[in-house]
Amino acid sequence: MKREVIQGALENVLSTIENLDKKSVLDVFAREGDWNSYLIYNRCQKMECWEIDSAFEKKLKENLPNAKIKILDSIKTINNYNIDKKYDVVFIDNSLGIYGKNQYCEHFNFIKNTKRLVNKGGYLIFNVSVKPFKGKNYKEYENQRKFFYKTSETTLDYLIQFYKDLFGINSSDSITIFPREKFNFKIYLYFFLVKIV
Ligand SMILES: C[S@@+](CC[C@H](N)C(=O)[O-])C[C@H]1O[C@@H](n2cnc3c(N)ncnc32)[C@H](O)[C@@H]1O
Repeated sequence: MKREVIQGALENVLSTIENLDKKSVLDVFAREGDWNSYLIYNRCQKMECWEIDSAFEKKLKENLPNAKIKILDSIKTINNYNIDKKYDVVFIDNSLGIYGKNQYCEHFNFIKNTKRLVNKGGYLIFNVSVKPFKGKNYKEYENQRKFFYKTSETTLDYLIQFYKDLFGINSSDSITIFPREKFNFKIYLYFFLVKIV
């Protein structure tokens, strides 16, 4: 019973983004940045990081010294976003399951709105769990997940089509998936890379 990170998963995502060194990146769930975000920071031109918990701010500044850091509620900010500022890449590395004060679940209540933050031709990188494992508040998570995906039978093919529909994507080239983590030796978590056209 263990979770296993697939080595190089995010590196694989990043290597498919052309000219990342000339791109602006927004990381909406930054924590201290030393799990995944630093890999993007090291390769992009400039980065802005959002994080709700001010306890992470000091270490985040140390880990990503040239990033612009904002302590705010990213989900509320995304859902109310009416600023013209856009980014070439938006990285959405939310916690899994139910989180916050039990008010959020995965990316279900804001993912559609992330498109507003991305320049034309830019990218969204986000986590998709194909077969979630039973963590805290699993029953509630299962309910919210079923409501969002309109089924609990979420094969990878189903989810690819689901996100194509959600973002209005016609071309298969605009969505790419990368295995991210295994649970009990089976891949359950993927990075989805979506090109916004
Ligand atoms: C999985 S961690 C991110 C890891 C990070 N990308 C890294 O590479 O180190 C998720 C983070 O999202 C933060 N978070 C949770 N809800 C949030 C919200 N509504 N707004 C902003 N950040 C939030 C958590 O505090 C946590 O630090």
